[in-house]
Amino acid sequence: MDKTKILKTSELSLNSSKVINLGDKQIAVFNYEDEFYALDDMCSHAEASLSEGDVYDCKVECPLHGAEFDLKTGSAVTLPATKPVNNYKVVVENNDIFLEMIQDA
Ligand code: FES
Repeated sequence: MDKTKILKTSELSLNSSKVINLGDKQIAVFNYEDEFYALDDMCSHAEASLSEGDVYDCKVECPLHGAEFDLKTGSAVTLPATKPVNNYKVVVENNDIFLEMIQDA
């Protein structure tokens, strides 16, 4: 499984998010309560960047129409989104954040 270093933990402050480019993918990386999560940045409903959404209750709220996605699974929790976004396994080692690519899309 490919593991790619993407950020240092110090680059992603508590309850913030950041977009990283990995190949042709744009991935939103979240620090929620000092746990790290990664989802495709593009909302599954229309064109909006999930990294710009509010984060609470281990979910991110799409900034455009308000659909909520589970940070752990990428599932669409509320309408108007009905499809999940890809999620990626995040591993933290020695203050470095790595992504393991677990889905292709
Ligand atoms: S673009 Fe995200 S809910 Fe519509």
